[in-house]
Amino acid sequence: MGSSDSEALHEEKDPIKRRQFLVRTAAVAGGLTCATSAGLLYTFLKPNVVREIPPRLRAGVPGDFQSNTAVYFEDHRLYVVRDERDGFYALSSVCTHLGCLVNWLPDTTSGYMGGRIACPCHGSLYSPKGNVLSGPAPRALDRYRIDLVDGQLIVDTQITVSEDEMLLKI
Ligand code: FES
Repeated sequence: MGSSDSEALHEEKDPIKRRQFLVRTAAVAGGLTCATSAGLLYTFLKPNVVREIPPRLRAGVPGDFQSNTAVYFEDHRLYVVRDERDGFYALSSVCTHLGCLVNWLPDTTSGYMGGRIACPCHGSLYSPKGNVLSGPAPRALDRYRIDLVDGQLIVDTQITVSEDEMLLKI
């Protein structure tokens, strides 16, 4: 077979490969276009809902809480606490330094009221009543007003109270 035969054979095979390449490229491009369009359509049609958290929390009835425990309400970012003397109070879980969420670390022997509230971001420590034990937090955690209404504990996150006013005795 001479070199001119080999070139002729090569030219015959090339158009098929080229055609296959073009068909496959067009198929991939079409697929990508469809996927992108579907993604954009989904983004456009997806409901853009912002969930609003009501400022008043119905925390439950006092009997739902054991003495010396803190129950966390994630949506409202607060703890409802029943202390060892059966007083109730509500404490924000938002650190007053830069707004990280704090964690309550109960003492293994004495429970929540003997524990500490710690911020994972920069190490602030708070007492169980929300007072700063060590910084950089500049002030105590917010304490919310808590009332007993029709047998239900109601926390109003729009009203902050002082340490002297925070305790609800039932
Ligand atoms: Fe809590 Fe910085 S945000 S210590």
